[in-house]
Order: sequence, then C-alpha cells, then structure tokens
Amino acid sequence: MVYPRERIVGILTGLEDLPTISAVVAEVNRIVADPESSAADLGDIISRDQSLTARLLRLANSAVFARRGGISKITDAIVALGFTRVRSAVLACAVRDALDVQADPPLVQAIWRHALVTASTARRISEVTGLRDPEEVFVAGLLHDVGRLAFLMICPEPYRGCLGSVTPSRSLYDVERETLGITHAELGSRLLMRWNLPLSITIAAAGHHQPERGHEHSLLMSLVSVSNEAANRAGVFAGDPYPRELPWNRLSELLPLRESDLDRVIGTAKEELGSAEAFLGSLAAPA
Ligand SMILES: [Fe+2]
Ligand SMILES: [Fe+2]
Repeated sequence: MVYPRERIVGILTGLEDLPTISAVVAEVNRIVADPESSAADLGDIISRDQSLTARLLRLANSAVFARRGGISKITDAIVALGFTRVRSAVLACAVRDALDVQADPPLVQAIWRHALVTASTARRISEVTGLRDPEEVFVAGLLHDVGRLAFLMICPEPYRGCLGSVTPSRSLYDVERETLGITHAELGSRLLMRWNLPLSITIAAAGHHQPERGHEHSLLMSLVSVSNEAANRAGVFAGDPYPRELPWNRLSELLPLRESDLDRVIGTAKEELGSAEAFLGSLAAPA
C-alpha cells in the first residue's frame, strides 16, 4: 500500500519534472503592458512561432471573432482580437503545450471546456459589474483547475482511479484529498507559482473551492468560485459529475450578488459554451 505521505512526495517530485511554459508568454506580457507598443510589435514576437501564429489566426477566424473576408495576417488577427485577448490566448496555448496530457482525451477536453466556460463567465460578470479587470479574471478562471491536468500528467492511473471513486456524496475534491493527500487546488497553485504567474492568479486557483473573506484577493477568488459553480450547475463539469456545491450564503457573503442573480450567471455560463468550444478548437496545435 502507498501511504498518502509517500504519494504526496511522489506527486510534488513529479510536479518539478513538468515542463515550464513557453518564454513567449513573458515577452507577450511585456509588450501588452507597454502602452507604446503596437500590433506590429506584438505580431513580430508571435510570428517567430509558427504554431502560435496558426492558432491565433484560427481563433480570429473562428465563429466568435470572424470578420468578413477572413483574416490572413497576424497583425490583423491581433487587431481583431485585441491585445488582452491575444495575451490570454497565448497563455492558454502555452499551458496546453506544457500540459500535453496523453491520458483520457475526452476527460482532458471536458476539463478545458469547463475552464473556458468558467473563465468566460467570470469575464462577463466583471464586465457587467466592474468588480475586477475582466481579462485578469478570465485568466484566473482559465487556470483554476490546472491541477487536474497536472494530476493526469504526473499520476494518470491513480487519478483516474479517483474519478472512479466519486459518488453523489463524495466529490472528486474530497477523493483527491483522501486518496492522494493533496487537492487539485493546491497542486495547481504550486504549478502556477512555479511558472511565475501573478500571485493573484495563483491564490485564486488555491482558494476556488473555499474562497476566504478578508483576503487581499478575496474578490478574484470569489469571482472564480461563483463562475466555477455556474459552469457546474450549467452541466459543464471538470470530469466530476457530482462537484461539491458551495452554499449560496457563503458566496453572497463574498460577492455583491443576490441569490436571484445566480440563475442569470448560470444562463451566462450556458451562453458562453459556444465561444468556449470555438476557443478550444483554436488552441489545438496545428497538424
Ligand atoms: Fe476545482
Ligand atoms: Fe472548476
């Protein structure tokens, strides 16, 4: 028998062996943060990477962003998508490449779909309420369950065993903690820290199942948490058909939303499914 303590050591060692994300992410962040930079500057960096260029063109021409006549130049794609969306898309491509999970493609697809619906829902809430920068919230939503992909990279068989142990009264989150000794929230936040992503994004991943009050990043954590909840209640699961529900009174303590708003947020999550699918299709590396 493998005891949880040995398991945790094995998992954390496996985490150290995971690839880092592409250096292009840092370069794109630098250019997007510079108010003097232009679409041509950003295009210069991106066009050095053929696979990334092809994926961004595919995204700009997808059902969500397509302009008449089609887009064939990277600078036009950047203008159509906007700088911050390009930054999120580059990060998503880099994470997808770093966590190239071979085990269980339908599960991996479900996790990404859930991540994108959570991210888009969080962005829509932020756009409407002005609570936080919509693109920061999108990235936090996109990466909140990255620990699940890390588990599938590090220990695919034990993790699929966990999925098989899920019941209506025992969520995957609980099974992870009891069986592997560490949850995807903790593992994901460690991975994001290792990738040098902003602390706010790391903390949102760590706390999305138990958002805390009075924390510097409570609002971001809560926005991700309520969007995660909405994605689940819209039936867009991250592999777990019985996710732990967060009590409404907990969420309403954290966010200025009424209980009647939750139905609207779930509706938003359903509406975002189409664009999430388009985004997801664009992320795959070209053959
Ligand atoms: Fe989660
Ligand atoms: Fe989630």
